[in-house]
Amino acid sequence: MQQPSRTVTSSQPGVHPALARTVARHLRQTWQRPLSGHSQQAFAVMAESVAAWSGPLILDAGCGTGASSLQLALDHPEALVVGVDKSRARLGRGLAEDCPDNLLLVRADLVDFWRLAAAADWKLARHYLLYPNPWPKPGHLGRRWHAHPVFPTLLALGGELELRTNWETYAREWQQALLLHGRVVEVDSFDAGVAETVVSPFERKYLASGQRCWCVRSPAPVAVAGGL
Ligand SMILES: C[S@@+](CC[C@H](N)C(=O)[O-])C[C@H]1O[C@@H](n2cnc3c(N)ncnc32)[C@H](O)[C@@H]1O
Repeated sequence: MQQPSRTVTSSQPGVHPALARTVARHLRQTWQRPLSGHSQQAFAVMAESVAAWSGPLILDAGCGTGASSLQLALDHPEALVVGVDKSRARLGRGLAEDCPDNLLLVRADLVDFWRLAAAADWKLARHYLLYPNPWPKPGHLGRRWHAHPVFPTLLALGGELELRTNWETYAREWQQALLLHGRVVEVDSFDAGVAETVVSPFERKYLASGQRCWCVRSPAPVAVAGGL
């Protein structure tokens, strides 16, 4: 039987007081950290398949085992689904060998992967971040994706964005960071009694433990005619 999962605890009572200035700083400065050789190689292999694909592209960022990526590939047979995770131990674990043709799983650090994808001009149809590590200590704000310097780059990939988390503060911070980027945002919460589609193993575990989960959706930004 699976162990019940504990709720996220934090000494941070709500949205971090430094969130707005951190997001604003990252908006002003392009992040320059060098890319790792491993990520570049992993991306190059993947990029060939993506370049050969003419349909919609879906990214499952931090996909864990890839079970959610598989579900997305089955739900969207018209799209190519790319699942990325840095954990070799987790990635692909428990997936059947006969994965559908429209699913690719890659081991890479997202911090590099997002920048390589943006440099290759990828345009996503949908972008999922399902239950990213919450980093609940206040001093770890900068490790949460919305307060990380890579955040503007992940947004530049476009598409409909969906974040799910079992920590309300992460959802509220994500919402505020997106609003600071001028995005439209909708926040929902659900529990096991509400029919929200379960798409990932972590979600299944949290719901089975009686936890509430949050979903933050943001439609793809509308391109301004003539550009600004
Ligand atoms: C809490 S798990 C969630 C996994 C899956 N999305 C799910 O919902 O079942 C967070 C995942 O993010 C991955 N991760 C964290 N930081 C990452 C990074 N910088 N690059 C790639 N994957 C990362 C971890 O390896 C882990 O599998």
